[in-house]
Amino acid sequence: MATSSSAIRTLDKSGNEITTVGFTRFGFDSEVPIDVLRSLYLRAHYVTTASSSDTKEEHLEEQALHAQFSKGHVAYQSKSIYHPETQSISYTTLSRFPPVKLLAPSKRKRVLVTGGAGFVGSHLVDRLMVLGHEVTVLDNFFTGSKTTVSHWVGHPNFELVRHDVVEPFMIECDQIYHLACPASPPHYQFNAVKTIKTSFMGTLNMLGLAKRTKARFLISSTSEVYGDPEVHPQPEDYWGHVNPIGPRACYDEGKRVAETLAYGFHRQDGVDIRVARIFNTYGPRMNPFDGRVVSNFIVQALRGEDMTVYGDGTQTRSFQYIHDLVDGLIALMNSDETRPVNIGNGDEFTIGEFAELVRDIVENVQREDGEEPRRVNIVYKPMPTDDPQKRRPDTTRAKQVLDWEPRWTVRMGLEEMVRYYKAKMAEGGI
Ligand SMILES: NC(=O)c1ccc[n+]([C@@H]2O[C@H](COP(=O)([O-])OP(=O)(O)OC[C@H]3O[C@@H](n4cnc5c(N)ncnc54)[C@H](O)[C@@H]3O)[C@@H](O)[C@H]2O)c1
Repeated sequence: MATSSSAIRTLDKSGNEITTVGFTRFGFDSEVPIDVLRSLYLRAHYVTTASSSDTKEEHLEEQALHAQFSKGHVAYQSKSIYHPETQSISYTTLSRFPPVKLLAPSKRKRVLVTGGAGFVGSHLVDRLMVLGHEVTVLDNFFTGSKTTVSHWVGHPNFELVRHDVVEPFMIECDQIYHLACPASPPHYQFNAVKTIKTSFMGTLNMLGLAKRTKARFLISSTSEVYGDPEVHPQPEDYWGHVNPIGPRACYDEGKRVAETLAYGFHRQDGVDIRVARIFNTYGPRMNPFDGRVVSNFIVQALRGEDMTVYGDGTQTRSFQYIHDLVDGLIALMNSDETRPVNIGNGDEFTIGEFAELVRDIVENVQREDGEEPRRVNIVYKPMPTDDPQKRRPDTTRAKQVLDWEPRWTVRMGLEEMVRYYKAKMAEGGI
């Protein structure tokens, strides 16, 4: 039996129900109802938003109107309609967009999101769009996909541009979230030279744009700048322990030099920069085959295959849910903090424990859906080179300067992600 939206009750770390994500910080309101966001990434049979049932009649009326113009071929969505009386032509795409906030022009920001078709970027785009801002996505679709943001294509506040950030790009904007860079090891190691080029030249180009337009610039750096850390948990003042010539160096050193560039532009040219050091993040729209531990485990368990743990399973990781990250990124962007800020969830799990938790949740969701789960095995394989043993953020700075801390428990986030992958699987997407 499919789970209905009313059955999805999400409790935060303090046991309070999560009905909205976001908050007001530094005069910027980032709060939106969780159901609106869910309707963009979870399939309809899991969530029915109030608006979708309320507007059924309206929907039929609109369809009838379009059918009248299109002589019944409603499936062919875009139409050009000639109006002889006014000698004009109108175009329709039949696109329906979720309502977005109507902001006064003085409050509406023109936001550029590079890498906006990727996992993190698309959630940031959803949030900024629902909040009523004007969003331009710049992406070369290397690891991202148009489908992650296709629900906004055609919206007057939205623009999607295919562009590689290693080439310069000109646009007028107020804020730049610079996310473009492959983030998972198989993807960033696929073409190591391109990864370091994207990190260096891409960041150089986008900082140049920020300098010209006086836009505020936020870079999505990473906990990988700490390498295999000798300090635990890692505060922002820790300089890291990175192998500069290993297989992960194209990404780790790429992000380190990207940070260096950001501070160079800040000191020399006064560019207003923000540096987010993001720790492991997971959530819907993560590529199921990108080799990251969360997606690997869920997909294997859903398929009834053995779950693979690399190493002996005692290495620890912390995982943050995507909505917490988006809250943190928006808060940082709108704050005055120019020092690096760790954004991550400090709840630490051994990979072995985590595999068991995922297995448990997958079984629960299968039971909720009236299926009989089959217990899968957890198997151990050798650890890849340079894989850090321990990684946990010290988020004291984020708490102090942004008044931000993670709200989502790992379990709650995983449940949502399992539902998402399960729905994708049912549609043949996995
Ligand atoms: N997801 C995490 O756990 C995590 C952790 C730390 C840092 N980050 C950082 O956050 C950002 C987003 O990560 P993600 O998980 O969404 O990864 P992702 O691979 O899903 O998204 C990256 C996006 O950038 C685009 N891109 C890559 N190279 C490009 C180029 N040269 N020009 C234009 N677009 C390009 C890709 O097509 C994709 O849409 C990355 O900068 C990553 O380093 C992510």
